[in-house]
Amino acid sequence: MIYEQPQKSVYIKTMGCQMNEHDTEVILGILTSLGYHEVGSVEEADLILYNTCSVRENPERKVYGHITSFRALKEKNPSLVIGICGCMTQQKLELENILQKLPHVDLIFGTHNIHRLPELLDRAASGERIVEVWDQGEDIIEDLPVQRRDPLRAFVNVIYGCTNFCTYCIVPYTRGRERSRDAEAIVEEVRALALDGVREITLLGQNVNAYGKDLKNPTDFAELLHRLNAIPGLERIRFTTSHPRDMKDPLIEAMAALDKVCEHLHLPVQSGSSEILRRMNRGYTREDYLELVRRIKNVIPNVNLTTDIIVGFPGETEEDHQATLDLVEDVGFSSSFTFLYSPREGTPAAKMADQIPEATKKQRIYELIELQNRISAATMAAEVGSIRDILVESYDSVKKTLLGRTKNHYQVVVEGPEHLVGEIVEVRITRSLTWTLRGELLGNHSSAVC
Ligand code: SAH
Ligand code: SF4
Ligand code: F3S
Repeated sequence: MIYEQPQKSVYIKTMGCQMNEHDTEVILGILTSLGYHEVGSVEEADLILYNTCSVRENPERKVYGHITSFRALKEKNPSLVIGICGCMTQQKLELENILQKLPHVDLIFGTHNIHRLPELLDRAASGERIVEVWDQGEDIIEDLPVQRRDPLRAFVNVIYGCTNFCTYCIVPYTRGRERSRDAEAIVEEVRALALDGVREITLLGQNVNAYGKDLKNPTDFAELLHRLNAIPGLERIRFTTSHPRDMKDPLIEAMAALDKVCEHLHLPVQSGSSEILRRMNRGYTREDYLELVRRIKNVIPNVNLTTDIIVGFPGETEEDHQATLDLVEDVGFSSSFTFLYSPREGTPAAKMADQIPEATKKQRIYELIELQNRISAATMAAEVGSIRDILVESYDSVKKTLLGRTKNHYQVVVEGPEHLVGEIVEVRITRSLTWTLRGELLGNHSSAVC
């Protein structure tokens, strides 16, 4: 006799980077196979799961605030399971804090043992408080189920962890050392995705262009791109995040030569001052970065460069800050993620002298954002008049418009019919708005699908 499994519901909140977003897709894949479905509010949930980020202090504070407020839900429904996973649990001090301050949390697991979720959940359901966090990933676990949130675009992990130890950053402590996936496994996964209708993949790694260095048969990221570019059905290949130190010529050349690889490079600079970069342990100087940008622009026409910048790193002088503003102007990033430096316990920078007062950090970030907004507007305006292919991602039934992205990563809105979602269409860019471009469809796309 077949018994129907009772349906259970999960509310999952994801914080942090795309690595966490993808982990959530895996967690949801596992939970779906256990009979769970996702719900949009905590009130409806049998399981509440917070997939956390530790990279800055603010999101961590939010986790404590939110989870404390779930105490009432737990009192009303004692069988509710509340879980925390992700990067916060990987830090010993933070874990102790969670255990102490959030006694109503039933289930804690880390970034290295997501595949253990079925067993952990089973034990948590019987009322036991489950805490299982591994210091380091074992071998990479392949073939976990994935619940993709988007039928057209998919994330694919290529390298886990980070061994760069930038002095401000918690990630090497929460994600472990660099471990590349076997190239064959990546190619197989992407082939299967393409067969399933995925048009665009984003290859993920904290340091994606360090791919392959640690493998028994060393390969590199450029070589991987060549293999993926040959997969039939796949249209676009993106990747993030690239470290300037590992941005070697074969990779730049592969970006230019391979038709599916998009002309967008997220290349975090962090600071425009060589002295600050040295103290950050980034492994390049201001001049190295600018020289690299020159090479990239020479080889890849239409390249769109974006970046991350930390403002107010310990010891940052007004001169260092000006050097960052100068570099931003010089490179002409189309956008940048700008962050106030946030001291992370256990990292060398948190113990450095000359921590910068909050007010100074804020003043500097305002200046930077203002400059970046000006440059963003100019880079977007420069796209007007160009003819680009966009992959149509969605349809707005009220405005009757399509939203898509160019290969070089600009968002474009055009009037057009819904059946073009999932298609690559040619558009002429007609106007630039604050964060999107407007365009018009070229060619005859208005007829209905046969
Ligand atoms: N591996 C990527 C990004 C990792 S985290 C890289 O090296 O580029 C994403 C961004 O968060 C970083 O690029 C950095 O700008 C920012 N960040 C990391 N630690 C931070 C901290 N302690 N304070 C403020 N911003 C931080
Ligand atoms: Fe953090 Fe640096 Fe590694 Fe990026 S490269 S994850 S900033 S340690
Ligand atoms: Fe945050 Fe962990 Fe990503 S600390 S940025 S979720 S790797």
